[in-house]
Amino acid sequence: NQIRPILRLARAAEEFGKGREVEFSPRGAREVRQAGAAFLEMKRRVERAIEQRTTMLNGVSHDLRTIITRFKLSLALMQDTPEAAEMKKDVDEMEHMLEAYLAFARGDAGETAAPTDVAAVLEDLRTDSARRGLTAEASFSGRRQVTLRSAAFKRCLANLVGNAQRYGKRIELSGENDGRTLTIHIDDDGPGIPPERREDAFRPFYRLDESRNQDEGHSGLGLAIARDIARSHGGDIRLDASPLGGLRATVTLPV
Ligand SMILES: Nc1ncnc2c1ncn2[C@@H]1O[C@H](COP(=O)(O)OP(=O)(O)O)[C@@H](O)[C@H]1O
Ligand SMILES: [Mg+2]
Repeated sequence: NQIRPILRLARAAEEFGKGREVEFSPRGAREVRQAGAAFLEMKRRVERAIEQRTTMLNGVSHDLRTIITRFKLSLALMQDTPEAAEMKKDVDEMEHMLEAYLAFARGDAGETAAPTDVAAVLEDLRTDSARRGLTAEASFSGRRQVTLRSAAFKRCLANLVGNAQRYGKRIELSGENDGRTLTIHIDDDGPGIPPERREDAFRPFYRLDESRNQDEGHSGLGLAIARDIARSHGGDIRLDASPLGGLRATVTLPV
């Protein structure tokens, strides 16, 4: 009977797609073992590619940071002219981008998936929003424990909630686990994003409207990072119009 080893292989592939640890060694008939060995080889290649990406991101960011530091030193020695002030602003902005990249590269390395109380994560984000003076609600239905890389998952949601906090006055967080999929809506009552720009908003360094982002160093990486995290869990993020009038970000993850 070859069904069991095939099912084990299928389950291992599925778990790997969700970014979880998989314990797997090829068993069964020769053909099934061959498929199992091919899966392990593919898994190793994917892991190596991810590791290389992280290492490269880190390396490039570090190198650029050295140059930026040199720039800042030179600028500090220059006379205080409007031109110098402009340049200083650009350099500061570059620095913020790099810090975001570095934080991302650092944070993603080496975390393993573990059971996480998703309802509690939503509640923390609600409290944080209320503390910042927003009207915030949170709700959850279904099983609260989901196996995921919790630090990465929290960063994903924090990026989305951070946007909602910046653009809206009211926030609603609603989660549902139906046993197959974890769905989380983050709704706000801000200006939203027009349908034709929603895909663009995920592009690294993309900002809809420069004048909206004059405040702190918002690098335009938030959504790109959030989507990367969702996809590394086998899920995705979608942007829609919110019933509250602003933006609805929806995170879906297979459970
Ligand atoms: N909740 C939101 N409401 C309105 N616009 C948003 C919202 N979230 C994101 N955006 C737009 O999408 C752009 C990209 O978002 P993001 O990747 O988080 O970058 P950042 O927040 O660093 O600017 C933002 O600059 C903003 O123009
Ligand atoms: Mg953001």
